[in-house]
Amino acid sequence: MQEKNITSVLQEDRQFPPPKDFQNKAFISSQEQYEKMWHFAKDDPEKFWSEQARTLLTWEKPFTKVLEWTPPVASWFGDGLINASVNCVDRHAQGARRDKTAIIWEGEPGDQKSLTYRELSIEVNKAANVLKSLGIQKGDRVTIYMPMICELAIAVLACARIGATHSVVFAGFSAEALRERNKDAKAKLVITADGGFRRGQVLPLKATVDESLEEPNTIEKVLVVRRTGEDVAMQPGRDVFWHECMKDASEECEPEALASEHPLFILYTSGSTGKPKGILHTTGGYLLGATLSTQCIFDLKEEDIYWCTADIGWITGHSYIVYGPLANGATIFMYEGAPNCPTPSRFWEMIERHKISIFYTAPTAIRAFIKWGDQHVDGHDLSSLRLLGTVGEPINPEAWVWYHKKIGREQCPIVDTWWQTETGSIMISPLPGVTPTVPGTATKPFFGIVCEVVDHDGQPVADGEGGYLVITQPWPSMLRSIYGDAQRFQETYWDKFPGFYFTGDGARKDENGNFWILGRVDDVINVSGHRLSTMEVESSLVSHPFVAEAAVVGQPHELKGEAICCFVTLEGGRAGDEELANTLKEHVAHHIGALARPEAIRFTDALPKTRSGKIMRRFLRDIAAGRASQGDATTLEDSGILETLRRG
Ligand code: WT7
Repeated sequence: MQEKNITSVLQEDRQFPPPKDFQNKAFISSQEQYEKMWHFAKDDPEKFWSEQARTLLTWEKPFTKVLEWTPPVASWFGDGLINASVNCVDRHAQGARRDKTAIIWEGEPGDQKSLTYRELSIEVNKAANVLKSLGIQKGDRVTIYMPMICELAIAVLACARIGATHSVVFAGFSAEALRERNKDAKAKLVITADGGFRRGQVLPLKATVDESLEEPNTIEKVLVVRRTGEDVAMQPGRDVFWHECMKDASEECEPEALASEHPLFILYTSGSTGKPKGILHTTGGYLLGATLSTQCIFDLKEEDIYWCTADIGWITGHSYIVYGPLANGATIFMYEGAPNCPTPSRFWEMIERHKISIFYTAPTAIRAFIKWGDQHVDGHDLSSLRLLGTVGEPINPEAWVWYHKKIGREQCPIVDTWWQTETGSIMISPLPGVTPTVPGTATKPFFGIVCEVVDHDGQPVADGEGGYLVITQPWPSMLRSIYGDAQRFQETYWDKFPGFYFTGDGARKDENGNFWILGRVDDVINVSGHRLSTMEVESSLVSHPFVAEAAVVGQPHELKGEAICCFVTLEGGRAGDEELANTLKEHVAHHIGALARPEAIRFTDALPKTRSGKIMRRFLRDIAAGRASQGDATTLEDSGILETLRRG
């Protein structure tokens, strides 16, 4: 546990109760209502979740079973049949929301588009027919590697409609990362675009897909959306253009009635060891978690214009751009590009232009806004905003307060939402009309979620003490497995504390029951709210012929939260210089993707190891952070190394 974190957060005692008029209109509006619902859900989870599932979702065939739980295997609403695209699209398109705007979209160059629920429905039906015409059937895996354009949401929903399991790969990942994910999922189709606009540049997505397919693979077809209009190579028989296929596609595609436990998607995320984990989510339970949490935590109202700034390539985009908001019939806003393109006012201009009322972003973005300066916010009318949210990493109180004052005009509650790719939906968060917020804590568990902070032996620790964060009861949107690796699923999440789900995070619960997240306790670093495995970066480094050994740790970073710091020893006594450091940074970025580009490469003759040869990363973390090491250094084989590293 990081002692430093624990003491610094203890000093935070500012409390912000929900604004009165927000509270009066809120969906959940009193402490009593929250307590009553929370305890009902805890004491009789099956009754709670079955009522919610019947109220919030449309079933093709109603379920009679609620939960079957043989840890770690869960089945929710096991005999029910459901289709996610019906819930997100059809029921609005066929009802009172048919002419309501579903998606408002802006491209980075400034082009704009919007789709009503009726129009979205037509696009999803056509795209589903296109997938079928390309040979995709229920149960097949489809990789989606696209920029943030409407077709990305449409592609996701089209897969859901026919029961194809989607695997969205963030468009910032490299060809190699894409290849690895295609291979693991045994995907048959890749949906991509010619390119996308990012920071005034064109991301050559189709070229990257081509590179990923140079080695033998399972991909039969590549479906290409025209976005930038740049020339791309099209391989006859394999590659087809989206617009050409869509032109003749029928506007009606019967939705598949899918088992509630049918795999809806796989989403890859980094673990502390080995290759990325394909987190598997299924249909009914996932959709319920996303739908209920969106309704309560974002207090979604009919007239809201909702913007989550994440990319659909991450879980936040799956649950809080596509599935949760659309299942609630919301109007969502989507933006293709960078926040500072063409100027650092871009976000505030768009909030003003589209009258965004709910804004959900990441602490790393907030820190960037602060750094760019208030002048970019000033002069923009942000009065449409009524609720703010954050996700991805602990938010530092300074950023929280700036967000509250500058963006929220001290009138908007802030929901600091803690969750993970694995949890599918938000687990710990304030309810904006009820919970007094305190900068730096995600506050309390959501309905039906029971969390605990435990010690090494799985025993609850006293309030105020640090420990491991676990979830003690199953919940509908929990991951069902790691795709193709049930054993790793068991070992990673369930073996450490039998019967409990282990989050991998350290936490502390205060005397008011608020949870303070203290960061990861494994070899995972959180760079700008994205999880990266130190191991993956290390194996990328040692794949370079000059590198003998590498140890990678996180180091504190003003904007990114954590940045990647690499300690590298070279082959055959070779000396490192700045040029080689840059080469290695480029090597890692090419290998994994730009988000994994190391911040610092530090060359050294040796790494601190135990007598048994284990690298002692805790010392390297201290050195990278420029702080003195505490604790036992006697197990080190050569304690002189630390001194040398510090001096270097
Ligand atoms: C890890 C999950 C779930 C969406 C984005 C990241 C950290 C996430 C918070 C928060 C403190 C947070 C945790 C978690 N994290 N939200 N509000 N406060 N830490 O998804 O890539 O699956 O990463 O992000 O360490 O375990 P992810």
